[in-house]
Amino acid sequence: MPTLDWIGKKAVVNHHREVPYRLLHCDREKSFGDPEAGNLLVQGDNLEALKALLPYYAGKVKCIYIDPPYNTGNESWVYNDNVNSPEIRAWLGKVVGKEAEDLSRHDKWLCMMYPRLRLLKEFLREDGSIWISIDDNEAHALKLICDEIFGRQNFIVNIVWQKKYAATNDSTQFSDLHDHILLYSKSAKIWLPNLIERSEKLNEKYANPDNDPRGPWYSTNLSVKTYSESYDYDIVSPAGISFRPPPSRAWVVSAEKYSELFSDNRIWFGKNGKSRPYKKTFLSEVRQGTIPVSFWVHEFAGHNVGAKSEIRKLFEGKQELFDTPKPELLLRRIIHIGSNPNDLVLDSFAGSGTTGAVAHKMGRRHISIEMGDHAKTHIVPRYQKVIAGEDQGGITESVNWQGGGGFRYCTLGAPLFDPEGDINAAVSFRDLAAHVFFCETGSPIPRRATGPLIGHFQGRAIYLLYARDSAGVANPRAGNVLNGAMLADLPEPKDDAAVRVVYAEGCTLSDTRLRKEGVIFKHIPYQIAGM
Ligand SMILES: C[S@@+](CC[C@H](N)C(=O)[O-])C[C@H]1O[C@@H](n2cnc3c(N)ncnc32)[C@H](O)[C@@H]1O
Repeated sequence: MPTLDWIGKKAVVNHHREVPYRLLHCDREKSFGDPEAGNLLVQGDNLEALKALLPYYAGKVKCIYIDPPYNTGNESWVYNDNVNSPEIRAWLGKVVGKEAEDLSRHDKWLCMMYPRLRLLKEFLREDGSIWISIDDNEAHALKLICDEIFGRQNFIVNIVWQKKYAATNDSTQFSDLHDHILLYSKSAKIWLPNLIERSEKLNEKYANPDNDPRGPWYSTNLSVKTYSESYDYDIVSPAGISFRPPPSRAWVVSAEKYSELFSDNRIWFGKNGKSRPYKKTFLSEVRQGTIPVSFWVHEFAGHNVGAKSEIRKLFEGKQELFDTPKPELLLRRIIHIGSNPNDLVLDSFAGSGTTGAVAHKMGRRHISIEMGDHAKTHIVPRYQKVIAGEDQGGITESVNWQGGGGFRYCTLGAPLFDPEGDINAAVSFRDLAAHVFFCETGSPIPRRATGPLIGHFQGRAIYLLYARDSAGVANPRAGNVLNGAMLADLPEPKDDAAVRVVYAEGCTLSDTRLRKEGVIFKHIPYQIAGM
């Protein structure tokens, strides 16, 4: 498979593993409504925020939508991921993009995107999908790295969205009217889109001229192009007129099937019974939706000017206008096709919070990450209005949104490990347990851990021994070391647990004793440091 190379690639392909795990700090004052509603807004760099969320949400997200900086040369974005390679050290902390002639900005953009996409993949459910907005500046490079990360076989489609309804006069060569939305599934073998609701226009062509009790129907051709001798037979109408398929065509059904259809009043010869036969297709029997198409016109998917006006109305001039919002209609379509009520939707470049607001109104749970201060100045008040039922714009009326729910607002806290690689003294048992469970199983912890038995997974009972004295120093007597007394005290695992895996800072038991007891000892912090 062709792959893309760029300056700095080697340094970032595995960078997601080196990103430190940080704790999440929830701020009650900025949170709003029901904190248990399952919605989250995290302010912080998405690389670290994603890593912090991974132990809780790996494999849980049904639909990811991201709208990263497009790298147009007119926008600024920051690349400062602390990747320790000479090329990248030379760029570190630099604001990228302002000067269009800076050729390396394409390398930097790819370095920024690669580890983030790599982490995002870990969040997808097996039947999940990721949708990425982009324009021609980076669309083709993005396609290649997505093929590499998500698998070429999992590419579904490149949607062309008509973001503007009219050409701009200041363009000197071409006026670009569209964005791309790249869609990848976690596994194309199992991913299925939700169908698009049938439009009134599509249904208008169904009628009921013979008052059929099965309701309106549409007449479809009874002949096909593919010729077959056995499907070329006489059909006699109720008025006694004999019909054969048109030249070089055959009927669409066998003679036997035709008789069944005729007896069931599913063949139409016109009002007078003299016209060529047609098959009746009943509205009640067609799929109650249509397969999505790859070209999205602004009439049904919104446009950029509309998106800005939605934001303007939402804030009534109180906030500085957010420059690059997406229209709610666009997100409605993506979230409709890609998820179902109560599914989890994730956006790690949240901007003004369109994804979260639309997901909320559509009854999905949502996680948004935004680095900029507009997390506080735009997303928080926007969500508050949605929850309070005060946002009357966007898709509110069409989905009959009345308000309700809530969200938690979080920032990034201390790293899980200190610079020496030891567990940070600020880390609580509950957070460490979530992290240990994730490292052991690759899955999020099913419920908050309160004691040493932190959960079960595929025949394993997983234990964590972790207690500290008041100075934050590991204290064997407080229970950080697996010894005979500790082992005797461990809570009983479930019956089907063949093995007990015990994470602790030390172990005084011999290998023979551990084997005999069916216990595997794992050392913290060393065996929980990687992803
Ligand atoms: C194009 S905007 C997204 C707009 C959004 N779709 C909306 O409808 O409002 C991109 C956003 O990504 C944010 N961003 C860029 N780099 C980021 C990073 N490393 N971590 C978190 N957010 C980031 C920017 O601050 C900006 O708000």
